[in-house]
Amino acid sequence: MRKKIIAGNWKMHKTATEALALATEIIQMANDELHNQAHLVLIPPFVHLHSLSKLTAASSRVALGAQNCHHETQGAFTGEVSAAMLAAVPVQYVIVGHSERREYFQETPAQIAQKIDLLLAHHLTPIFCCGESLAVREAGNAYGYVSSQVIDSLFHLSPEAMAQVVIAYEPIWAIGTGKTATSTQAQEMHWHIRQEIAKKYGESLALNLSILYGGSMKPDNAADLLACPDVDGGLVGGASLQSRDFINIAKAVH
Ligand code: PGA
Repeated sequence: MRKKIIAGNWKMHKTATEALALATEIIQMANDELHNQAHLVLIPPFVHLHSLSKLTAASSRVALGAQNCHHETQGAFTGEVSAAMLAAVPVQYVIVGHSERREYFQETPAQIAQKIDLLLAHHLTPIFCCGESLAVREAGNAYGYVSSQVIDSLFHLSPEAMAQVVIAYEPIWAIGTGKTATSTQAQEMHWHIRQEIAKKYGESLALNLSILYGGSMKPDNAADLLACPDVDGGLVGGASLQSRDFINIAKAVH
């Protein structure tokens, strides 16, 4: 069965004290209230990973993730963090190719592919983000665009490696805008991505891959989105900064 994952991407939010408080609340609420199959992932800024790892290590429900890693193994890259460093924390998940990284930090598909290789070599699970802009969707090219993103950064992987990847479909026009994809739009794109993977890697690998939706997922729209047969969870930004909202989204997993 596919893993159902609700991952909270905290982006550049929360001081150390705030991060500890938020993680503590979420872990407590998950223990008390979550009775479904949802696996939670907390993805704070790098500086909080070490302190939060002490909390998540004690929880079977809540894992830890990082928002990025560098595409080289080590070296003179001031300000950067390597896959090996993240594995040593330890974290379990790392986001790669988020649209904000692609846009503001000019990350290329080739660099994203390199990051994925390094993460897999360290037994970390990449959460590979893809998704089209509004202009691409309005031009009728959303499916082709997302296919290219998937092909360019993932299709060099062996089937064994591909089976370790989590995909997050995040339409750029829905991120942080309050505009969510409808459940029909999400389902259609998730099905399309799964078909693309099935063509290359076979039906059974594709059916076992978790594909998360991201883009203004909130407690009031999560149930609709998570009810789609090909939506296996969420990559949540804004609503992951409030413990109550995040847990309520996780409760909508069936
Ligand atoms: P959002 O962000 O939920 O605030 O739209 C999602 C994301 O960027 O991962």
